[in-house]
Amino acid sequence: MLIRRAHDEDIDQLMAIEELCYDHPWPREAFEEEIAQGDVGMGFVAEDEGLVVGFLTGMMGVDEFLLHNVAVHPDFRDRGIGRKLIEAAEELCLENEFQRILLEVREDNEIARHLYLSMGFEAVGTRKDYYGPGQNAYLYTKRIELE
Ligand SMILES: CC(C)(COP(=O)(O)OP(=O)(O)OC[C@H]1O[C@@H](n2cnc3c(N)ncnc32)[C@H](O)[C@@H]1OP(=O)(O)O)[C@@H](O)C(=O)NCCC(=O)NCCS
Repeated sequence: MLIRRAHDEDIDQLMAIEELCYDHPWPREAFEEEIAQGDVGMGFVAEDEGLVVGFLTGMMGVDEFLLHNVAVHPDFRDRGIGRKLIEAAEELCLENEFQRILLEVREDNEIARHLYLSMGFEAVGTRKDYYGPGQNAYLYTKRIELE
C-alpha cells in the first residue's frame, strides 16, 4: 500500500470511489479544483498494485488544513487505509507548520467519527442541516503539535 500525492490522472479513479461511497457524490469539477490547484488544493491517494483504492482531499489555509473528503473503496475498508490517509494530512501539516486540521462529519457517520476520535480529533461544534434538512454535521478539529 502506497500513500502518495494525487495527480490529475487519478481523477477518474477518485470519481469512481466517490460514487461508490456517497449518495450525493461530489462533481468532477470539485476534484479538479482541489487536485489541480497547486497552491491551496491538496490530495492524497492510497494505491494498491497500481489501483487507487482510497483518497483524501482538502485545502491548505494560512495555518490550517481543511479536510474536505476522505473515502476508501468498500472492498478495501477496515485495513487502516483511512487512518494512513489522515496521517499523510498530519504530515503535510507538520511540513507546512499548520496548527490544526478541521473537518465536518455527518452526525450519523459512526465509523468516520470513531476513526477521527481515535486519532485525537475533538468535536468543537455542530453545523445544523449541513448536509440537508435534518442532517447535521459535527465540526472536528485536531491540533498539530509542532516541534
Ligand atoms: C470512513 C472511512 C474513510 C474509513 O476508512 P477505512 O480505511 O475503512 O478506515 P480504517 O481501516 O483506517 O479504520 C478506521 C477505524 O474504523 C473502524 N471501522 C472500519 N470499518 C468499520 C466497520 N465496517 N464497522 C465498524 N468499524 C469499522 C476500524 O475498526 C478502525 O478502528 P480501530 O482502528 O479502532 O480498529 C471509510 O469507511 C469510508 O470511505 N466511508 C465512506 C465515506 C465517508 O463516510 N467518509 C468520511 C466523510 S467525513
